[in-house]
Amino acid sequence: MYVSIWCHSLNLSSRSLAIVLVVCVTLVYFSYSFNACLLASISRTLQQQSNLRNLLTLQQRNASSEAEANRVSNASRSSNGNSNSSTSAGPSSNSSSSSSSSTTAILNSTVSNGIASVDGAPKYQMLRQQGLRPSRHLPDTLIIGVKKSGTRALLEFIRLHPDVRAAGSEVHFFDRHYQRGLRWYRHHMPYTIEGQITMEKTPSYFVTKEVPQRVYHMNTATKLLIVVRDPVTRAISDYTQAASKKADMKRFEQLAFVNGSYSVVDTNWGPVKIGVYARYLEHWLLYFPLSQLLFISGERLIMDPAYEIGRVQDFLGLKRVVTEKHFYFNATKGFPCLFKSEARSTPHCLGKTKGRNHPHIDANAIERLREFYRPFNNKFYQLTGINFAWP
Ligand code: A3P
Repeated sequence: MYVSIWCHSLNLSSRSLAIVLVVCVTLVYFSYSFNACLLASISRTLQQQSNLRNLLTLQQRNASSEAEANRVSNASRSSNGNSNSSTSAGPSSNSSSSSSSSTTAILNSTVSNGIASVDGAPKYQMLRQQGLRPSRHLPDTLIIGVKKSGTRALLEFIRLHPDVRAAGSEVHFFDRHYQRGLRWYRHHMPYTIEGQITMEKTPSYFVTKEVPQRVYHMNTATKLLIVVRDPVTRAISDYTQAASKKADMKRFEQLAFVNGSYSVVDTNWGPVKIGVYARYLEHWLLYFPLSQLLFISGERLIMDPAYEIGRVQDFLGLKRVVTEKHFYFNATKGFPCLFKSEARSTPHCLGKTKGRNHPHIDANAIERLREFYRPFNNKFYQLTGINFAWP
């Protein structure tokens, strides 16, 4: 009634009244929307600040454990060229990996295997918002050999650890592709987040003359894993692999000795030559202290994989996450197999190229080879401080 009196007194028509009402409603609507946006924006800012605070706390925790590890290990850390970025996520960050292992364990599923799973996923976007951007780094740790000693088994077993990320195939950077440069090499590495170790395995590194110096130039603090097994069994395994690719291959005994008799061992034949471990090790020791090398028994890796993987985790400063629970012995295969891995969630063994049946070798040939290797094995025990007790 008051409105109609007021309208009447102002002499407004009902059309004008309608226009005034529409204007009023529009004003109220815009004012409400504006306030709602303002509130949403304030709450987003507060949320981001809280995320940032969490991230800073995490980084401070990592930094303090890293400083502690540095005090303890007193490891020298220097690197050349563009390897700097790698070393910042390198072995010293391994030390921080234990403290952040629960975080990385959760995050690991997000960053598994390459770009496809890294980009786009909602969880990854969350990581990015929190500054945990996965990136590729040069390796902190290398499995450098020895060919046919169990290097694939070692890699598959240790990469069960959520803080270890490994290149899938052998990259052969230091022996075949060195001219392509470290950028190329880094591009072949998997994505990692802070606290994760980057690993690569190329067994020919151990026996290639130029490699120790090249690895040293990449990062003097690189940790080196070396699997070794009885050089006679290793030679037979090496021969078996070569024979599987070449139908008309001569018999092992014909290739391992000069002139067909068992008196002179052919030390130029690859499968024999590689087993003189001491010779190659001496060269590595010109660049790296023994404390940066870990020797893994290929025999024990078969008999008791959890034990050897325990040693590897300790050496890398990792929490012992991979244990007996991860392995079972497959009687048909005759080797330890995995209940699950990064790639498969069901029990499985290594591929059929691992754990092949070896051909029968004349016992006298084997005995002669053992005799040949004995002084070199003793030298190797002396250099490593480990008696592998090969026959
Ligand atoms: P054989 O196939 O001659 O038996 P690499 O991975 O360095 O090429 O070494 C291969 C060797 O790893 C195999 O040689 C096998 O003896 C050994 N090995 C160790 N653990 C194994 C496992 N769990 N499954 C299969 N092979 C394994």
